[in-house]
Amino acid sequence: MKAVEMKKGIYWVGGIDWDIRNFHGYLTQRGTTYNAYLIIDEKITLVDTTKYYLVDELLERVSSIVDPSKIDYVISNHVEMDHSGGLPRVMEIAKNATLVTAPNGAKGLAKHYDTSSWNIKTVSTGDKLELGKRSIEFILTPMVHWPDNMVGYMPEEKILFSNDSFGQHIASSERFDDEFPSEIIIEEAKKYYANIVMSYGMQVGRELKEASGLDIEMIAPSHGLIFRKHVKEIIDSYVKWSSNIVGKKALIVYDTMWGSTKKMAYALQDAFEEKGYMTSMKNLQNNHISDIITEVLDVEYICVGSPTLNNNMLPTVASFLTYLKGLTPKNRKAIAFGSYGWGGQSVAQIEQYLSDSKFDIKLSKRLLYIPSEENLEELKEELKKLL
Ligand SMILES: Cc1cc2nc3c(=O)[nH]c(=O)nc-3n(C[C@H](O)[C@H](O)[C@H](O)COP(=O)(O)O)c2cc1C
Ligand SMILES: [Fe+2]
Ligand SMILES: [Fe+2]
Repeated sequence: MKAVEMKKGIYWVGGIDWDIRNFHGYLTQRGTTYNAYLIIDEKITLVDTTKYYLVDELLERVSSIVDPSKIDYVISNHVEMDHSGGLPRVMEIAKNATLVTAPNGAKGLAKHYDTSSWNIKTVSTGDKLELGKRSIEFILTPMVHWPDNMVGYMPEEKILFSNDSFGQHIASSERFDDEFPSEIIIEEAKKYYANIVMSYGMQVGRELKEASGLDIEMIAPSHGLIFRKHVKEIIDSYVKWSSNIVGKKALIVYDTMWGSTKKMAYALQDAFEEKGYMTSMKNLQNNHISDIITEVLDVEYICVGSPTLNNNMLPTVASFLTYLKGLTPKNRKAIAFGSYGWGGQSVAQIEQYLSDSKFDIKLSKRLLYIPSEENLEELKEELKKLL
């Protein structure tokens, strides 16, 4: 239960969730961490807590440095319970602590916990909390990704406590980005961005603009590894992801009962490849929607296929489209396709979702039962003309 020193007198004291594999439907194959940070200064400060079931781990780590009852400030950057679950215990033990949060944070926390006995101080963008030799400046980042989100910047140490931004769901005993394979960190950060942050691209753009004025040496997010080597790389990645910059790539997502829709999917892939596109084939039978969404981030085309089942698309495809629509990627081209036997409603239903998601639908194609070689050739040619 070691606390890990990040800079002199500043420690990681969070919790490691080795076993979690599902986070509100997001598949977390690598588990996660809930990062909390302890600052020893004239005022002893704790930034965020953990999920409730790891609060003992947090308290042990704090105790290895300082008596938790001596904490003066507890900063709550985000009400969501993965970071606030430990607050009731911490506030009970740190009797004299002041809880520092955004105005929406104070409202949100009161709807989660009995905060009546807590001493709460609310802060807004530009407010500064003096800790002694160091200070924390707050920037409110509403809707990245809850109404109460804020980040804290410590100018003396050049640390950005970035909250859920720049996070990754990775459980590890390593704490820093130079101790862990950086490709995995960026891959998980991309998955995190796609599944959690994507809908708030505009707000992220604003946040990045504010952050661009800051001199940042270390980014301390609330999940996963702490950045001290790849700071520029992760910020550049966020700039890219939030700008909807796409590559010459097509993502083909489908499900199939008897293989006909799959034949169409592979015909589309041939057409894309012949036109120099990179492609990715994602059968919904063996790919999780939270993994597929990661690939949406940098593709020009999203193609979605389903046969018709009882006058509907397949439930797996409906699930993917519902998820996709909620995450509102912008400026994508789309294709709907599928095989059918009689009513053939699935393709029109897919089209409806894609147009509700404001995608530019370039092609929509349904084919009866098992498509012939000629049918598939025609489909290929139709798509190639568009590319
Ligand atoms: C249980 C079941 C229900 C089906 N319901 C419909 C339907 O309501 N309307 C329709 O057009 N086709 C329906 N079909 C026919 C399939 O859409 C057709 O067989 C299609 O070619 C299957 O494509 P796939 O090989 O990609 O699964 C149904 C097939 C099955 C097995
Ligand atoms: Fe969150
Ligand atoms: Fe979180």
